[in-house]
Amino acid sequence: MDTNHQLNGLKAGMNVGTGNMGCSVFKLIAYGFDVKDWISPGNVIECILFGSGFRNVPYDWINKQKSNQNWLRKEGEKFLFPGGGTMFPRGVGAYVDLMQDLIPEMLDGTVRTAIDTGCGVASWGGDLLDRGILTMSLAPRDNHEAQVQFALERGIPAILGIISTQRLPFPSNSFDMAHCSRCLIPWTEFGGIYLLEVHRILRPGGFWVLSGPPVNYENRWRGWNTTVEEQKSDYEKLTELLTSMCFKLYNKKDDIAVWQKSSDNNCYQQLSSPDVYPPKCDDGTEPDAAWYTPLRPCVVVPEPKYKKLGLKSLPKWPERLNVAPDRISAIHGGSVSTFKHDDSKWKERLKHYKKLLPAIGTDKIRNVMDMNTAYGGFAASMINDPLWVMNVVSSYAANTLPVVFDRGLIGTYHDWCEAFSTYPRTYDLLHLDGLFTAESHRCDMKYVLLEMDRILRPNGYAIIRESSYFVDAVATIAKGMRWGCRKEETKYGIEKEKILICQKKIWYSSNQNSR
Ligand SMILES: C[S@@+](CC[C@H](N)C(=O)[O-])C[C@H]1O[C@@H](n2cnc3c(N)ncnc32)[C@H](O)[C@@H]1O
Repeated sequence: MDTNHQLNGLKAGMNVGTGNMGCSVFKLIAYGFDVKDWISPGNVIECILFGSGFRNVPYDWINKQKSNQNWLRKEGEKFLFPGGGTMFPRGVGAYVDLMQDLIPEMLDGTVRTAIDTGCGVASWGGDLLDRGILTMSLAPRDNHEAQVQFALERGIPAILGIISTQRLPFPSNSFDMAHCSRCLIPWTEFGGIYLLEVHRILRPGGFWVLSGPPVNYENRWRGWNTTVEEQKSDYEKLTELLTSMCFKLYNKKDDIAVWQKSSDNNCYQQLSSPDVYPPKCDDGTEPDAAWYTPLRPCVVVPEPKYKKLGLKSLPKWPERLNVAPDRISAIHGGSVSTFKHDDSKWKERLKHYKKLLPAIGTDKIRNVMDMNTAYGGFAASMINDPLWVMNVVSSYAANTLPVVFDRGLIGTYHDWCEAFSTYPRTYDLLHLDGLFTAESHRCDMKYVLLEMDRILRPNGYAIIRESSYFVDAVATIAKGMRWGCRKEETKYGIEKEKILICQKKIWYSSNQNSR
C-alpha cells in the first residue's frame, strides 16, 4: 500500500474509513436494514420519501441545522427524506421541472449523465434518476456530516469528493451536465481553477447549471447579507470567466442559470494569444489524467479527432448504450467488434450470475459496484434491473472510462491499493473480474478484500471471477472475514476460471461501545 497516496487522499477529504489498515470494520450496534424502505422498482421517488435507520447513519447535524430546508427529518429511529435542499426547500420536483423548461434536452434522452457538485443528501440526483438521467452526486465529508452516506443509504449514486487541489477522478469530456445549487464552491476565485475543472469533465455542448448566488442577485441580494453592487460584480466576474473558457449563456430564469460548453473548437483558437487568460493547456498533462493530478489554471481543449464526442453528436439515450463510442479507438485493441463482443459476453454472463445469485434484479440489491470494468458491459447488461452501478476503472489499467461515460453510464478511476472514497456498508453487491490476477503484484490482496468488506453492506454480496489459483486464495481470506462463500463454475465450465459467490454475514463486535 502506498501510504503517501493514502495521506494525500485524506488531505483532500476524499477517503473515509480504515479499509486498508488490516482490520475488518464491523457492523454498527443494532444495524437495521429493510431494503423495501428505499426501493420500489420503477419508482425511485419512493426512496426520496422513505428513509433509512438512524442507527445506520447516526448523525443528526443536518436534521438540527437545516430543518427549514427540508433535507431530511428524524422521526423516532428513522430519517425521512422529503426531497428538500438549500435551493429547493419546498421539494426538488418543481425545481427540476423548471430546469427542464430551460434545458429541453433533459427530456428527450440527449442529456443522460450528470454530476452534482456539492450534492447535500443527493435529492437532485435521486429525482433525475427517476427521469432517466444518471447522476454522480459528489460532496466532501465536511460540516454537512455524512451527507454522502445518507445519499447511498437512500440508494442514490454518490461518491465522496471535493473540488480542491486535485482533478476529480473522471476523464475529460465525460458528463453531459454539471450542477451546483448553492454548493459553496468559490467559482471565480484562484483564476477560475474550479470552473476550469468543470469545463474539463463536461463534454462539448454539455450544460453547466448554477442556482443560488450570484444568479438572480437583483431580487435575492437582501437575503444574502451583502450589497447589490457586490453581487452584481460577482455575477459579471463569473460571466466574464465563463466566456473566457468558451461557455455561452444558454438560458436563465429566476434562480437558475444555464451555460453551455462550446460544441466545436473554433472558439478556443483565441486562447493561443500569449496575453490571454486562461491559456490552453499544453500537452504536458493528459486530458484524462485524473489520479492525483493537480488542478492547473488552463483550458483542456477537446481532442478534435473525436467527431462524436459532443452532446448533440452522440445517439440519444437509450440507443447510446449499445453504440461503440469513437473513443474506443484510443484503447489498445479497442474496436467496434471488441465492444460488441464484450457486450454479448456480459449479457451471457449475467444470465449465469442470475442463476447463481437470484437476488440480482430483486429489491435486495440496489447499490452495485463493478470494481474493474472495461467498457461497462456488466452494468449495461443489468440496465433494466432496479439498481445502479458504479463502474470503476483502475488507475493502472487501460483508460476505458471515457467509453463507459460515452455510452451513458457513470464511473470513477480508482487504485485498489487505497481506500475507496465511500463510507462503510454502502454497497449491496461488489463484482470483480480478474482484478487480483491483474493487480496482486501491486499490493497485498488481503487489503483489497478488507476494503471490500468495509464498503459492503451486512448481508451484501460479492461476485469474484478469477483464475482458479486466486479464487482459492480469496476464499481463505474471505472465511477469515466471516463471509460465506461458495465456488461455482463459469457458464462454460472453463477449467482455469472460477466464480466465487460470497455473502458478508452479520456479526457484532463483542465491544458493545464500539462502532
Ligand atoms: C449549502 S449546501 C447545498 C447542498 C445542495 N446542493 C442543496 O441545494 O441542497 C453546500 C454543499 O456544497 C458542498 N461543498 C462545499 N464546498 C465544496 C467543494 N469544494 N467541493 C464539493 N462540494 C463542496 C457541501 O459539502 C454541501 O454539500
